[in-house]
Amino acid sequence: MLVLGIETSCDETGIAVYDTDKGLLSHALYSQVKLHADYGGVVPELASRDHIRKVIPLIEEAIKEAGIATSDIEGIAYTRGPGLIGALLVGSSIARSLSFAWQVPVVGVHHMEGHLLAPLLDDIQLAFPFVALLVSGGHSMLVKVDAIGQYEVLGESVDDAAGEAFDKTAKLLGLDYPGGPRLAKLADKGTSGRFKFPRPMTDRPGLQFSFSGLKTFAANTIRDIANEKGELSGQDKADVAIAFQEAVIDTLLIKCKRALKQCAVDQLVIAGGVSANVMLRQKVTELMDSIGGKAFYPAPAFCTDNGAMIAYAGAQRLANGQRDELSDQVLPRWPLEDLNETVEV
Ligand code: KG4
Ligand code: ZN
Repeated sequence: MLVLGIETSCDETGIAVYDTDKGLLSHALYSQVKLHADYGGVVPELASRDHIRKVIPLIEEAIKEAGIATSDIEGIAYTRGPGLIGALLVGSSIARSLSFAWQVPVVGVHHMEGHLLAPLLDDIQLAFPFVALLVSGGHSMLVKVDAIGQYEVLGESVDDAAGEAFDKTAKLLGLDYPGGPRLAKLADKGTSGRFKFPRPMTDRPGLQFSFSGLKTFAANTIRDIANEKGELSGQDKADVAIAFQEAVIDTLLIKCKRALKQCAVDQLVIAGGVSANVMLRQKVTELMDSIGGKAFYPAPAFCTDNGAMIAYAGAQRLANGQRDELSDQVLPRWPLEDLNETVEV
């Protein structure tokens, strides 16, 4: 089945064509990062307007790159939520309009389901059940995946998401938005061990996360250095960056280890924007080697928001017979466990 995927939940317009027999045929992406950089974060109204400008040219581009005609498309998948309401409405309006015009079925995909199934875009040996760590700008969660559509949320962040904490701490260090990858680059020059940040919520049982305290700890550390020296040197900033990054990664690893033990599972998927972090990948691989398990990551291009993961997740649902109504509304808040149904692959 040939499926067109449309992602517009935040600040990336992502379009892809996925074939359930041949795999991913094409994907096109436009990032609005530059548009929002001056504001230090995503401005919802600007995001919606830019999605409107880019969505049709990108659909044309993806179809051309796939070497198919529009009449070949047999289904449409779009991100129905969670996300920014105006941005979601752009993707859902175009998806439902094309479904009506082309007389093909449409499904609304959960954005986080897209992220956690993204490693399956590669032809890999990943069998159910597995544990997935989803770490993005909007979410941090550990999920047990028993099948496509069967998710048990084991733990979530009680405050900031991991990516959000990266972005806010990067801002404190004077880095531009989005700060996560910039902070990671700065941390490469840092000296490990100069500052000791806490590992929040690891001294008690459970799989919840909390990252806002780390941002505050970084703010206090920066203030103390400034009080002592007047101004932070490049090395000071790099040392704060590595201390923060190590604290986030250690905390994530401790919880992943617990979740794997609790579920008696030895496969771990790491997905979402923060899964692009090289140090996180190295440490997770070391952890999984040490316990005789295996870690799976999406290809770097499919860690952050993209249309391919939506096309893939939607294709599984469409191939299984799911058909959504043209009257369906977007769901800016949509708990993952509400999906609660099994879709055979
Ligand atoms: O999944 P994503 O593209 O969008 C959301 O659904 O939120 O994730 C974006 C987040 C941002 O917070 C960004 O700073 C973070 O992922 N991120 C990183 C890295 N690359 C992206 N954080 C740490 N290290 C990275 N290399
Ligand atoms: Zn995302």
